[in-house]
Amino acid sequence: MRKSGIFILFAGIAAGMAFAMAGTSQASTHNAAMNSKMMAGNGHLQMPSFDARRGRKLFASKGCVVCHSINGIGGEDAPALDADTMPMPMNPFDFTARMWRGASTMIEMQVEELGDQIEFTGDELSDIIAFAHDENEQKKFSPDDIPANIANLMKHLGSEDEEHESEEHESDTQQ
Ligand code: HEC
Repeated sequence: MRKSGIFILFAGIAAGMAFAMAGTSQASTHNAAMNSKMMAGNGHLQMPSFDARRGRKLFASKGCVVCHSINGIGGEDAPALDADTMPMPMNPFDFTARMWRGASTMIEMQVEELGDQIEFTGDELSDIIAFAHDENEQKKFSPDDIPANIANLMKHLGSEDEEHESEEHESDTQQ
């Protein structure tokens, strides 16, 4: 009588645990699929969007493409950001840390070439980072993704470069 009571209790706990575990794994699969809902930092931090398709547009419209190339499209003043040059898997904050390391040069060049420092939201940056790691989305990157204002700027800078190249040993030090 006592024994079977303990057995029933034990079986009940085991069933409860199995139920709880099934619930957890379902929840984590759900979270992985919808990682924009994932929370950290006691629920105060939310994962950004990481939308590579939007990143493809932003990489061009924000002007990254003026200096960096992907899929052979873009400037050559800065390292190419093709997915096959990225360490993978990469913690997105490591990408940001690399940007931070190059920040002073980048911002100086942005002010010179684009007229101002590029601004973006966390979601926008996460979309660009997702694009930098998505070789399938990168294959779709074409000059059609570059808005007219950025394309004109690139054309203008490109012809400036050619002028510089033809002016033999022209000093770069003029301010
Ligand atoms: C005006 C030119 C310019 C623009 C625009 C620009 N960058 Fe850069 N970027 C650079 C240069 C130059 C470096 C290298 C800096 C250094 O090594 O000191 C760099 C470095 C980086 C690095 C580090 C690369 C490495 O190999 O470590 C990343 C990542 C990066 N940029 C991302 C971006 C993103 C994303 C954008 C758009 C939001 C952007 N850059 C816009 C010029 C630019």
